[in-house]
Amino acid sequence: MRVLSGIQPTGRFHWGNYFGAIRQYIELQENEQAFYFIADLHALTTVHNKVDLQQYTLDAALDLLALGLKPEQATLFRQSDVPEVTELTWLLMTVTQMSLLEKCHAYKDKIARGLPADAGLFTYPVLMAADILAYDSDLVPVGQDQIQHIEVTRDLAQRFNHRFESEVFVLPQGKVLDSTAKVPGTDGEKMSKSYGNTIEIFQTPKKLRKKIMSIKTDSTPVEDPKDPEACAVFTLFKLFGDESEQAELANRYRAGGMGYGEAKQAVFDKASEHFAESFARRAELESNPGDVEDILQTGATAARKKAREVLNRAKEACGLSVR
Ligand code: ADP
Ligand code: TRP
Repeated sequence: MRVLSGIQPTGRFHWGNYFGAIRQYIELQENEQAFYFIADLHALTTVHNKVDLQQYTLDAALDLLALGLKPEQATLFRQSDVPEVTELTWLLMTVTQMSLLEKCHAYKDKIARGLPADAGLFTYPVLMAADILAYDSDLVPVGQDQIQHIEVTRDLAQRFNHRFESEVFVLPQGKVLDSTAKVPGTDGEKMSKSYGNTIEIFQTPKKLRKKIMSIKTDSTPVEDPKDPEACAVFTLFKLFGDESEQAELANRYRAGGMGYGEAKQAVFDKASEHFAESFARRAELESNPGDVEDILQTGATAARKKAREVLNRAKEACGLSVR
């Protein structure tokens, strides 16, 4: 089975990205053939500065490798290093109904807020479909918000196959981890760069602690019992603590006498422990940026080989010349 996913380099990765997406990538590389890429072309719909895009892309590669992505097990590459995908996007565009794209949330939300949208944002799901279909992907691990795009991908694959009476594209399945599908941010809402409520994975202990201490809680006095299930701090603790640690902290919430500061400190301690190895690995990788570039280039070569094969199949099916 081939697993594929992409992640946009639009800023530094946060706990939502890790628990909602990256952790699944790392688990899946063990037993499946995995393709993971940094979606720099998609990022162009929001990042409009050359230096930022380059820095975020390098950071994305460093973060993924530091968090446990193994280049000998998974193919890691930059989306823009595989031009076959943009060519495939055009072919898919010809089977894409406008009404389908009008329903897609990124575009719809922007229009609803009265903001101008460009064709890049509008056709974003078609590029994503090409990303997925170009590698005959079977399984696409993503956060809940991306499931709509997987449905679009399946729709386009079916339309293309049907129109050209072929079996060019493999129909992919999305995969969401339900228990952690929505990681809350410091304001209790879904953690997201666009809401400014993120907790970044890699930052100095001092900054991390400050961020965790800023998580919004209610004003229940220290001595009163508290409801762990209604508290973002506890939700975050659950991501790191094992079952007995979760039960222990939940009991302390319910018993009263514990302030939110203590629960926050527990989150800080567990998170620091959880990511300690990754911090060390990142520091090492950072001192060898050439190695990271080599990994991305090797990945791109393997990815292009597969994408070329699928693109040729698609071109052939619709009557285009294949070189
Ligand atoms: P952001 O919302 O911060 O811009 P992205 O949209 O780039 O994050 O998301 C990258 C990946 O991380 C996607 O698969 C997305 O579903 C997942 N993800 C992002 N935020 C969360 C969250 N709070 N909880 C779970 N998964 C998330
Ligand atoms: N749109 C995805 C996101 O914002 C990133 C992405 C681009 C992607 N192409 C993909 C994810 C292909 C999975 C498969 O998170």
